[in-house]
Amino acid sequence: MKGIVFREFIAMVETQFSLETADQIISASNLSSDGAYTSVGTYPPQEMVDLVTHLSASTNISVPDLLHHFGKHLFKRFSEIHPEYVKTHESAFELLRQLDGHIHVEVRKLYIDAELPAFDYEELGDGEMVFIYRSRRKLSDFAQGLIQGCIDHFGDPMQIERTNLPDDDSGAHTRFTLKRLNDVTA
Ligand code: HEM
Repeated sequence: MKGIVFREFIAMVETQFSLETADQIISASNLSSDGAYTSVGTYPPQEMVDLVTHLSASTNISVPDLLHHFGKHLFKRFSEIHPEYVKTHESAFELLRQLDGHIHVEVRKLYIDAELPAFDYEELGDGEMVFIYRSRRKLSDFAQGLIQGCIDHFGDPMQIERTNLPDDDSGAHTRFTLKRLNDVTA
C-alpha cells in the first residue's frame, strides 16, 4: 500500500482524534517505518490493518466504520492533493465513469507499484449507476467511503445500496447501486 495512504491516515487521526491517539496506535502496531512513511514508498498492507484495528480498540468505533470514514476523508484530500483528477469532472457519475480507465491508470504512473482495485459500471438511465468493486485487498468499506466522499464533493445527493457478492478469483466483489435522490423523488 502506498505511503500517501498511510500519511493521510495518520494525519487524519492526529487532527480528528488526537496526537496522543496517533502516537499510541503507531507504538502499538508493528510498523516497518515506525510511522515515518514517504508518499511514494510502498509498505505492507498489514500495517494499515494494524493501525485501524488499534484505532478501533482505542475509540470503540468499528473497523468498517473507520474505513468508511477514512475513505470519505481521503477523497477530499485527493481532491486537494491531485485536483487535476477531480476538477475536470462535473458530476460524481462522470468521475466514476473515468475512475478505472483513466484516473487510476494515471495514479499508477505517479505511484509506481500502486495496487488498485478494478471497477466496472453500468448506467441504468440518467439517475442510476451500478458500480462493481473487485479487489484482493477487500476494502469495500473504504471504497464505499471514497464513493460517498465523491458524491459529497459534487453536492448531488444519492442513495447508495450495497450488496456484498461472493468473493471470486479477483478477491472481494461488491456491488454499489447509486441512485440520484432528486430523480427518485421527482
Ligand atoms: C470515487 C473515487 C474513487 C474510488 C471509489 C477509489 C477507490 C480506491 C480503493 C478502494 C483503493 C484501495 C485499493 C483496493 O481496494 O484495491 C484505492 C487506492 C488508491 N487510489 Fe483510488 N479511488 C477513487 C479516487 C481516487 C482519486 C481521485 C485518486 C487520485 C489521486 C486516487 C488514488 C488512489 C491511490 C494513490 C491509491 C493507493 C494505491 C496503493 O496503496 O497501492 N483514487 N482507490
